[in-house]
Amino acid sequence: MKATVIDADGAPTIETVPDPGLAPPGQLLLRVDAAALNPADVKVIEGQFAGRFLRARTQPLVPGFDFSGVVEAIGDGVASPRVGQAVFGHLPYSSKNTQGSLADYLVVPAESVGPKPDEVSHPTAAATATTGLTALQALRDLGRLRPGGRVLINGASGGVGAHAVQIARLLGAEAVVGTCSAAKMDFVAGLGAEPVDYRQTAFPATPGGPFDVVFDAAATASYRAARALLTDDGAYITTLPGFGLLFDMLAAAFSRRTAGVVVVKSQAADLTQLGGWLADGALETPLDTTVDRADVAEGLARLKSGAVKGKVAVRMR
Ligand SMILES: NC(=O)c1ccc[n+]([C@@H]2O[C@H](COP(=O)([O-])OP(=O)(O)OC[C@H]3O[C@@H](n4cnc5c(N)ncnc54)[C@H](OP(=O)(O)O)[C@@H]3O)[C@@H](O)[C@H]2O)c1
Repeated sequence: MKATVIDADGAPTIETVPDPGLAPPGQLLLRVDAAALNPADVKVIEGQFAGRFLRARTQPLVPGFDFSGVVEAIGDGVASPRVGQAVFGHLPYSSKNTQGSLADYLVVPAESVGPKPDEVSHPTAAATATTGLTALQALRDLGRLRPGGRVLINGASGGVGAHAVQIARLLGAEAVVGTCSAAKMDFVAGLGAEPVDYRQTAFPATPGGPFDVVFDAAATASYRAARALLTDDGAYITTLPGFGLLFDMLAAAFSRRTAGVVVVKSQAADLTQLGGWLADGALETPLDTTVDRADVAEGLARLKSGAVKGKVAVRMR
């Protein structure tokens, strides 16, 4: 099959690689119709330290965590989905993963996909998986967001942030404030948040609090900086684990204000929820750019430029 392979210079090229073969027990063989790009791909491609925890660094290096496509075959023990069904999802972060989604075919655990509604395009579905799941799980599970809550999203213009602003509203938040750069204030306002330029306002001085949830989607702040913005039992959640967070979590253990890190899980029920919201128009995945598979280099350059509003998707067919 054909796949996007990262060459010795770190550049993506389309090459022939071995087929993934039959679906093992509990897994699916998918035909990939679309994928999407994430900072995680950049970390893997550039060999960054964090990238080692996301997947195996085997050769050929085929990147990609987001996928949308059609089930070609199912392994033993898989009751759902069925062959021919359109599904989407996030390839779980695991050092056992040896192949990403930028390929004709992909093998994934059956429980890590959700049904793709007919009304939702493959690029939109793929571009919703990783960041939509991250935002939903951060706000609902770690943030314990309740209707009427007040939410601050740090990095509201990125993939995670753009989903988080909308999902906070869908979970019933009364007020959502979103930090971003000056050029993306209108974009963030359009998503449903009160925009704040992070270069003009120091993070601890962000107006609109106190907040029940501070979701540090960009992972540029800290629990210490967020504490003064939180309600007495508010939650700070970041997207990147680190030593700083370890100390923060220790400090938070003696406080009702919690600190945590989200680690995205590709759960069928959550993908079904996201697909439903997309299908009925409650959730939108802003596609900044959609490239053909031959132009993945262009998509990665766009992602790394910092100019993206929302997501970069890849058409695979
Ligand atoms: N833990 C997990 O399971 C998980 C899952 C998904 C993603 N992540 C991580 O989460 C992070 C964000 O992912 P993403 O997909 O949203 O990335 P992205 O689409 O590249 O967006 C990055 C965001 O960071 C903002 N930003 C940059 N500098 C900032 C600053 N100084 N203050 C506030 N915001 C700032 C950007 O705002 P402007 O563009 O307006 O400057 C943009 O909104 C990445 O590190 C990613 O690897 C973790």
